[in-house]
Amino acid sequence: MKNYSKTVALFVWVMLAIIIGSVGFLRFTTVPAHHVPPPQQWGFKGPLGTYDKAALQRGFQVYKEVCAACHELKRIRFRELAALGFSEPQIKALAATYSIKILNESGEEAERPGIPSDAFPPIHPNELATRAANNGALPPDQSLIIKARPHGEDYIYALLTGYGQTPPKDIVVGEGRYYNPVMAGGQISMAPPLKDGQVTYSDGTKATVSQMAKDVVEFLSWTAEPEMEDRKRTGLAVLLYMLVMTIIFYAAKRKIWKDVK
Ligand code: HEC
Repeated sequence: MKNYSKTVALFVWVMLAIIIGSVGFLRFTTVPAHHVPPPQQWGFKGPLGTYDKAALQRGFQVYKEVCAACHELKRIRFRELAALGFSEPQIKALAATYSIKILNESGEEAERPGIPSDAFPPIHPNELATRAANNGALPPDQSLIIKARPHGEDYIYALLTGYGQTPPKDIVVGEGRYYNPVMAGGQISMAPPLKDGQVTYSDGTKATVSQMAKDVVEFLSWTAEPEMEDRKRTGLAVLLYMLVMTIIFYAAKRKIWKDVK
Protein backbone atom coordinates (compact mmCIF):
# COMPACT_ATOMS: atom_id res chain seq x y z
CA MET A 1 0.00 0.00 0.00
CA LYS A 2 2.73 2.44 1.03
CA ASN A 3 4.86 1.68 -2.02
CA TYR A 4 1.87 2.03 -4.26
CA SER A 5 1.01 5.56 -3.06
CA LYS A 6 4.68 6.55 -3.42
CA THR A 7 4.62 5.45 -7.04
CA VAL A 8 1.45 7.47 -7.62
CA ALA A 9 2.98 10.54 -5.97
CA LEU A 10 6.12 10.17 -8.08
CA PHE A 11 4.00 9.88 -11.22
CA VAL A 12 2.04 13.03 -10.34
CA TRP A 13 5.25 14.99 -9.71
CA VAL A 14 6.79 13.83 -12.98
CA MET A 15 3.64 14.80 -14.91
CA LEU A 16 3.57 18.21 -13.21
CA ALA A 17 7.23 18.76 -14.02
CA ILE A 18 6.61 17.87 -17.70
CA ILE A 19 3.61 20.22 -17.94
CA ILE A 20 5.35 23.15 -16.21
CA GLY A 21 8.53 22.47 -18.17
CA SER A 22 6.82 22.44 -21.55
CA VAL A 23 4.83 25.61 -20.81
CA GLY A 24 8.08 27.33 -19.85
CA PHE A 25 9.79 25.97 -22.96
CA LEU A 26 7.06 27.32 -25.23
CA ARG A 27 7.05 30.72 -23.53
CA PHE A 28 10.77 31.28 -23.82
CA THR A 29 11.44 29.86 -27.26
CA THR A 30 9.26 32.19 -29.31
CA VAL A 31 10.62 34.93 -31.57
CA PRO A 32 12.68 37.60 -29.78
CA ALA A 33 10.62 40.52 -28.51
CA HIS A 34 11.56 43.09 -31.19
CA HIS A 35 10.20 40.87 -33.99
CA VAL A 36 6.83 40.38 -32.35
CA PRO A 37 4.15 42.42 -34.14
CA PRO A 38 1.82 44.36 -31.83
CA PRO A 39 -0.93 42.00 -30.70
CA GLN A 40 -4.49 42.77 -31.86
CA GLN A 41 -7.80 41.68 -30.38
CA TRP A 42 -9.04 38.59 -32.27
CA GLY A 43 -12.42 37.19 -31.33
CA PHE A 44 -11.45 33.77 -32.67
CA LYS A 45 -8.44 33.31 -30.37
CA GLY A 46 -8.54 31.72 -26.94
CA PRO A 47 -10.14 28.47 -25.79
CA LEU A 48 -13.70 29.70 -26.42
CA GLY A 49 -13.05 31.94 -29.44
CA THR A 50 -15.19 31.50 -32.56
CA TYR A 51 -15.13 33.07 -36.00
CA ASP A 52 -17.40 36.03 -36.69
CA LYS A 53 -19.38 35.11 -39.82
CA ALA A 54 -19.92 38.73 -40.87
CA ALA A 55 -16.16 39.40 -40.60
CA LEU A 56 -15.42 36.17 -42.52
CA GLN A 57 -17.71 37.26 -45.35
CA ARG A 58 -16.18 40.74 -45.45
CA GLY A 59 -12.70 39.19 -45.37
CA PHE A 60 -13.58 36.89 -48.24
CA GLN A 61 -14.79 39.92 -50.19
CA VAL A 62 -11.41 41.62 -49.60
CA TYR A 63 -9.57 38.46 -50.66
CA LYS A 64 -11.73 38.06 -53.79
CA GLU A 65 -11.69 41.70 -54.90
CA VAL A 66 -8.11 42.57 -53.94
CA CYS A 67 -5.68 39.81 -52.96
CA ALA A 68 -6.96 37.24 -55.51
CA ALA A 69 -5.42 39.28 -58.31
CA CYS A 70 -2.03 37.94 -57.21
CA HIS A 71 -2.46 35.35 -54.44
CA GLU A 72 -3.89 31.86 -54.97
CA LEU A 73 -6.09 29.95 -52.53
CA LYS A 74 -5.56 26.45 -53.84
CA ARG A 75 -6.44 24.49 -50.73
CA ILE A 76 -9.97 25.82 -50.34
CA ARG A 77 -12.95 24.33 -52.17
CA PHE A 78 -15.93 26.49 -53.01
CA ARG A 79 -18.32 24.28 -51.03
CA GLU A 80 -16.31 24.93 -47.88
CA LEU A 81 -17.50 28.54 -48.02
CA ALA A 82 -20.77 27.26 -46.53
CA ALA A 83 -19.00 27.75 -43.19
CA LEU A 84 -19.03 31.51 -43.86
CA GLY A 85 -22.81 31.44 -44.06
CA PHE A 86 -23.16 31.26 -47.86
CA SER A 87 -26.11 29.23 -49.14
CA GLU A 88 -25.78 26.39 -51.66
CA PRO A 89 -27.17 28.43 -54.60
CA GLN A 90 -24.80 31.29 -53.72
CA ILE A 91 -21.84 28.89 -53.72
CA LYS A 92 -22.94 27.33 -57.03
CA ALA A 93 -23.21 30.76 -58.60
CA LEU A 94 -19.83 31.83 -57.23
CA ALA A 95 -18.08 28.64 -58.40
CA ALA A 96 -19.54 29.09 -61.88
CA THR A 97 -17.80 32.47 -62.24
CA TYR A 98 -14.42 30.65 -62.23
CA SER A 99 -13.20 28.63 -65.16
CA ILE A 100 -11.50 25.32 -64.46
CA LYS A 101 -8.92 23.74 -66.77
CA ILE A 102 -9.67 20.13 -67.67
CA LEU A 103 -8.78 17.54 -70.30
CA ASN A 104 -11.74 16.76 -72.56
CA GLU A 105 -12.73 13.36 -74.01
CA SER A 106 -10.04 13.58 -76.68
CA GLY A 107 -7.38 14.47 -74.12
CA GLU A 108 -7.12 18.11 -75.15
CA GLU A 109 -6.97 20.99 -72.72
CA ALA A 110 -10.36 22.58 -72.24
CA GLU A 111 -12.19 24.70 -69.71
CA ARG A 112 -15.49 24.37 -67.91
CA PRO A 113 -17.27 26.54 -65.33
CA GLY A 114 -16.42 25.74 -61.71
CA ILE A 115 -18.66 23.61 -59.49
CA PRO A 116 -18.83 23.63 -55.67
CA SER A 117 -16.40 20.69 -55.30
CA ASP A 118 -13.65 22.51 -57.22
CA ALA A 119 -10.84 24.28 -55.40
CA PHE A 120 -9.97 27.90 -56.22
CA PRO A 121 -8.08 27.51 -59.51
CA PRO A 122 -4.48 28.66 -59.95
CA ILE A 123 -4.02 32.17 -61.37
CA HIS A 124 -1.01 31.27 -63.54
CA PRO A 125 0.00 27.90 -65.03
CA ASN A 126 3.24 27.66 -63.02
CA GLU A 127 5.76 29.46 -60.78
CA LEU A 128 7.67 30.89 -63.72
CA ALA A 129 4.56 32.55 -65.13
CA THR A 130 3.61 33.79 -61.65
CA ARG A 131 7.02 35.41 -61.18
CA ALA A 132 6.88 36.90 -64.67
CA ALA A 133 3.60 38.58 -63.75
CA ASN A 134 4.98 39.88 -60.44
CA ASN A 135 8.29 41.48 -61.31
CA GLY A 136 10.17 38.30 -60.37
CA ALA A 137 8.56 38.06 -56.93
CA LEU A 138 6.35 35.17 -55.82
CA PRO A 139 3.09 35.99 -54.02
CA PRO A 140 2.64 33.00 -51.69
CA ASP A 141 -0.55 30.93 -51.80
CA GLN A 142 -2.76 32.29 -49.03
CA SER A 143 -4.52 29.11 -47.89
CA LEU A 144 -2.08 28.51 -45.02
CA ILE A 145 -0.21 31.82 -44.88
CA ILE A 146 -1.42 32.58 -41.32
CA LYS A 147 0.29 29.39 -40.09
CA ALA A 148 3.37 29.97 -42.22
CA ARG A 149 4.42 33.11 -40.31
CA PRO A 150 5.09 33.44 -36.58
CA HIS A 151 2.23 35.36 -34.94
CA GLY A 152 0.50 35.06 -38.35
CA GLU A 153 -2.63 37.10 -37.56
CA ASP A 154 -0.82 40.01 -35.92
CA TYR A 155 1.98 39.84 -38.49
CA ILE A 156 -0.25 40.05 -41.56
CA TYR A 157 -2.38 42.78 -39.98
CA ALA A 158 0.80 44.75 -39.22
CA LEU A 159 2.16 44.10 -42.73
CA LEU A 160 -1.01 45.29 -44.49
CA THR A 161 -1.21 48.43 -42.34
CA GLY A 162 2.57 49.01 -42.26
CA TYR A 163 3.01 50.87 -45.56
CA GLY A 164 3.39 54.58 -46.13
CA GLN A 165 6.19 55.39 -43.68
CA THR A 166 9.44 57.09 -44.71
CA PRO A 167 12.30 54.59 -44.78
CA PRO A 168 15.27 55.24 -42.46
CA LYS A 169 18.50 56.33 -44.22
CA ASP A 170 20.19 52.94 -43.92
CA ILE A 171 17.51 51.19 -46.00
CA VAL A 172 17.80 51.57 -49.77
CA VAL A 173 14.47 50.52 -51.22
CA GLY A 174 15.06 48.58 -54.45
CA GLU A 175 13.23 49.14 -57.71
CA GLY A 176 9.73 47.69 -57.70
CA ARG A 177 9.96 47.30 -53.94
CA TYR A 178 8.19 49.16 -51.14
CA TYR A 179 9.30 50.14 -47.69
CA ASN A 180 7.47 48.19 -45.01
CA PRO A 181 9.19 47.87 -41.62
CA VAL A 182 7.17 44.74 -40.78
CA MET A 183 8.73 42.70 -43.61
CA ALA A 184 12.13 41.14 -42.84
CA GLY A 185 14.72 43.49 -44.38
CA GLY A 186 12.29 46.42 -44.35
CA GLN A 187 11.10 46.08 -47.93
CA ILE A 188 8.63 44.00 -49.91
CA SER A 189 7.80 43.41 -53.59
CA MET A 190 4.07 43.81 -52.92
CA ALA A 191 2.64 47.23 -53.69
CA PRO A 192 0.40 48.49 -50.87
CA PRO A 193 -2.69 46.36 -51.66
CA LEU A 194 -5.23 48.28 -49.58
CA LYS A 195 -6.42 51.86 -49.59
CA ASP A 196 -9.39 53.37 -47.73
CA GLY A 197 -12.69 52.62 -49.45
CA GLN A 198 -11.19 49.99 -51.76
CA VAL A 199 -14.16 47.66 -51.36
CA THR A 200 -17.80 48.43 -50.66
CA TYR A 201 -19.11 46.30 -47.84
CA SER A 202 -22.77 45.35 -48.22
CA ASP A 203 -23.31 45.38 -44.43
CA GLY A 204 -22.42 49.07 -44.28
CA THR A 205 -19.11 48.58 -42.43
CA LYS A 206 -16.69 51.37 -43.29
CA ALA A 207 -13.87 49.96 -45.44
CA THR A 208 -10.83 51.56 -43.83
CA VAL A 209 -7.42 49.97 -44.45
CA SER A 210 -7.36 48.73 -40.87
CA GLN A 211 -10.90 47.28 -41.10
CA MET A 212 -10.15 45.47 -44.37
CA ALA A 213 -6.85 44.16 -42.96
CA LYS A 214 -8.65 42.84 -39.87
CA ASP A 215 -11.39 41.19 -41.95
CA VAL A 216 -9.03 39.55 -44.43
CA VAL A 217 -6.91 38.22 -41.54
CA GLU A 218 -10.04 36.69 -39.99
CA PHE A 219 -10.85 35.08 -43.36
CA LEU A 220 -7.29 33.78 -43.81
CA SER A 221 -7.31 32.39 -40.26
CA TRP A 222 -10.38 30.42 -41.26
CA THR A 223 -8.78 29.15 -44.49
CA ALA A 224 -5.74 28.05 -42.45
CA GLU A 225 -7.88 26.24 -39.89
CA PRO A 226 -11.50 25.74 -40.98
CA GLU A 227 -11.96 23.06 -38.30
CA MET A 228 -10.86 25.34 -35.43
CA GLU A 229 -14.31 25.60 -33.84
CA ASP A 230 -14.79 21.80 -33.92
CA ARG A 231 -11.36 21.32 -32.42
CA LYS A 232 -12.15 23.64 -29.51
CA ARG A 233 -15.56 22.07 -28.94
CA THR A 234 -14.01 18.58 -28.86
CA GLY A 235 -11.25 19.79 -26.53
CA LEU A 236 -13.74 21.22 -24.06
CA ALA A 237 -15.87 18.09 -24.18
CA VAL A 238 -12.79 15.94 -23.48
CA LEU A 239 -11.75 18.15 -20.56
CA LEU A 240 -15.26 18.01 -19.10
CA TYR A 241 -15.33 14.23 -19.52
CA MET A 242 -11.97 13.87 -17.80
CA LEU A 243 -13.10 16.12 -14.94
CA VAL A 244 -16.25 14.05 -14.38
CA MET A 245 -14.30 10.79 -14.58
CA THR A 246 -11.71 12.10 -12.12
CA ILE A 247 -14.45 12.87 -9.60
CA ILE A 248 -16.07 9.46 -10.09
CA PHE A 249 -12.78 7.59 -9.80
CA TYR A 250 -11.79 9.58 -6.73
CA ALA A 251 -15.12 8.78 -5.05
CA ALA A 252 -14.73 5.11 -5.99
CA LYS A 253 -11.22 5.00 -4.63
CA ARG A 254 -12.37 6.49 -1.31
CA LYS A 255 -15.12 3.93 -1.04
CA ILE A 256 -12.95 0.91 -1.92
CA TRP A 257 -10.09 1.83 0.42
CA LYS A 258 -12.12 3.29 3.28
CA ASP A 259 -11.45 0.32 5.61
CA VAL A 260 -7.71 0.15 4.95
CA LYS A 261 -5.74 2.36 7.30
C1 HEC B 1 -0.47 43.15 -57.21
C2 HEC B 1 -0.20 41.88 -56.64
C3 HEC B 1 -0.55 41.66 -55.18
C4 HEC B 1 -1.74 41.90 -54.51
C5 HEC B 1 -3.01 42.53 -55.07
C6 HEC B 1 -1.55 41.43 -53.17
N1 HEC B 1 -0.29 40.92 -53.00
FE1 HEC B 1 0.47 40.12 -51.31
N2 HEC B 1 2.25 39.78 -52.26
C7 HEC B 1 2.52 40.09 -53.58
C8 HEC B 1 3.89 39.74 -53.87
C9 HEC B 1 4.58 39.93 -55.21
C10 HEC B 1 4.43 39.20 -52.68
C11 HEC B 1 5.87 38.72 -52.43
C12 HEC B 1 6.63 39.85 -51.78
C13 HEC B 1 8.07 39.61 -51.55
O1 HEC B 1 8.49 38.45 -51.56
O2 HEC B 1 8.80 40.60 -51.35
C14 HEC B 1 3.37 39.24 -51.70
C15 HEC B 1 3.51 38.80 -50.40
C16 HEC B 1 2.49 38.78 -49.46
C17 HEC B 1 2.60 38.21 -48.14
C18 HEC B 1 3.83 37.52 -47.54
C19 HEC B 1 4.74 38.46 -46.84
C20 HEC B 1 5.90 37.68 -46.23
O3 HEC B 1 6.05 37.69 -45.00
O4 HEC B 1 6.63 37.01 -46.99
C21 HEC B 1 1.39 38.35 -47.55
C22 HEC B 1 1.00 37.92 -46.13
C23 HEC B 1 0.52 39.02 -48.47
N3 HEC B 1 1.22 39.26 -49.62
C24 HEC B 1 -0.80 39.33 -48.21
C25 HEC B 1 -1.64 39.97 -49.12
C26 HEC B 1 -3.02 40.26 -48.85
C27 HEC B 1 -3.75 39.92 -47.56
C28 HEC B 1 -3.51 40.87 -49.94
C29 HEC B 1 -4.90 41.42 -50.16
C30 HEC B 1 -5.36 42.40 -49.21
C31 HEC B 1 -2.42 40.95 -50.93
N4 HEC B 1 -1.31 40.36 -50.38
C32 HEC B 1 -2.54 41.50 -52.19
C33 HEC B 1 1.64 40.64 -54.48
C34 HEC B 1 0.35 41.04 -54.22
